[in-house]
Amino acid sequence: MAKMDRRGFLKSGSIATVGTYLAGSTRTHLLAAPVAEPAKPIAANDHIQIALIGAGGQGQGDTKVAAMVPGVKVVAAADCYDGCLQHARELWGKDILTTRDYNEILARKDIDAVIIGTPDHWHMKASIDAMNAGKDVYCEKPMIHLYSDGPKIIEAWRKTNRIMQIGSQRVSSIVYHKAKELLAAGAIGELNMVTVWYDRNSAQGAWEYTVPYDADTTTCDWPRFLGTAPKVPFGDGQRFFQWRKYKDYGTGVAGDLFVHLFSGVHLITNTTGPTRAMSTGGLRFWKDGRDVPDVMISLYDYAKGFNLSVRTNFVDGGSESEGFVFTGSEGSMTLAGDTVTIARVPREKEPGVRVGLFGEATQKRMMEIYREKYPVEHPTGEALRGEEKYVAPKGYSDHYDHMKNWIDAIRTRQPITEDPVFGFRAAGTALLSNVSYESGKIAHWDPDKMELL
Ligand SMILES: NC(=O)c1ccc[n+]([C@@H]2O[C@H](COP(=O)([O-])OP(=O)(O)OC[C@H]3O[C@@H](n4cnc5c(N)ncnc54)[C@H](O)[C@@H]3O)[C@@H](O)[C@H]2O)c1
Repeated sequence: MAKMDRRGFLKSGSIATVGTYLAGSTRTHLLAAPVAEPAKPIAANDHIQIALIGAGGQGQGDTKVAAMVPGVKVVAAADCYDGCLQHARELWGKDILTTRDYNEILARKDIDAVIIGTPDHWHMKASIDAMNAGKDVYCEKPMIHLYSDGPKIIEAWRKTNRIMQIGSQRVSSIVYHKAKELLAAGAIGELNMVTVWYDRNSAQGAWEYTVPYDADTTTCDWPRFLGTAPKVPFGDGQRFFQWRKYKDYGTGVAGDLFVHLFSGVHLITNTTGPTRAMSTGGLRFWKDGRDVPDVMISLYDYAKGFNLSVRTNFVDGGSESEGFVFTGSEGSMTLAGDTVTIARVPREKEPGVRVGLFGEATQKRMMEIYREKYPVEHPTGEALRGEEKYVAPKGYSDHYDHMKNWIDAIRTRQPITEDPVFGFRAAGTALLSNVSYESGKIAHWDPDKMELL
């Protein structure tokens, strides 16, 4: 991070109070939400028709949000479970096309764009098929299931010239963008450490999603769900409805949760990623046949001069929380929910003196010598600390902003933040934890070339 002098800092206006920073006080600022929708109606030929591929939990959530953006119409949905297709018709009208085969959607010329909310092992194929069919794509995180997916998606995206947004919606959050601005303006001095976590303490949090009573091989298209994954029996439906528990379809806590944290860290620190990771953890509680750990903790090195620690704990007695702490030479920045807090502790202006170990006369004389050298007594330690909080307005939705960002880009063909390069860097970084965990070794990554070393 470039060092900023006080003038530059004030000019940036990020922390207008830096010169008069109120030690011992907390000030709260309300962040400005993006400007409201244009009042003018959207012309009929500017309407965007979208379809959903993978109409489960997140796909439905994404599509509900997309439908709130003016000029967007949901016209089709594909899923492998009939119950989800039924609900798609209830949500968006009985006349929408519902199908188990997303190729029917891709063949329709009147569909401009698709949202992909399938399990991770379908992200690459569904995205590439959609872009090759001329559709713009919103693909859920993590962008990849395997490292080899990344270059293929990027190549298809470049070749087809489509707009592709990856679904770590917080990347569009005004809270994250404020954090980025504050860090760049030197609000906490030189960044040296980042601590991020995503802990849960419930069955649903640990992916024990309910298998519907009617789930069997007539209501669920199991071969289609499997795709290129190993052919195993449908069984009791857990592999279908609790797919995150199995590496064949998911990416463990790293791909499910770390990726959100890395998307945030990369945006806020303006970095492409780390150079190496070291990971440990284990399966401590949810011994239900899953083949991924429920506790994982990893350390990462960033070439930009900071270290990062990341963890997920699904056995976190009493706490479900997610957060970021950025530690710098002059304070810390914490992100929690809708708030970013700067706790600023400027560097002390005098070095301090340690005298208590010596005889009283020596102590007295040492203090005199010290004060001759530093005649002005400045405040030290906690007395210097002051806080600034920046809070998003009530009801603010980063999910809406992220979706709107994609829809706007579909209209304007302008680049967007979370394109497949950003998406691969975030997911590639997150999955480095799995590489290290499984090998028991340090995993190396070139964040610029996006290559495992
Ligand atoms: N951005 C976020 O905050 C967020 C939150 C939750 C999930 N996600 C991501 O969203 C994706 C979906 O997660 P979920 O919780 O909604 O899972 P889910 O199991 O609820 O939904 C996935 C759906 O995809 C369907 N499907 C599987 N293969 C398909 C195919 N070939 N064609 C069409 N449909 C297919 C399944 O039938 C299922 O209904 C995951 O990649 C997950 O990481 C993102």
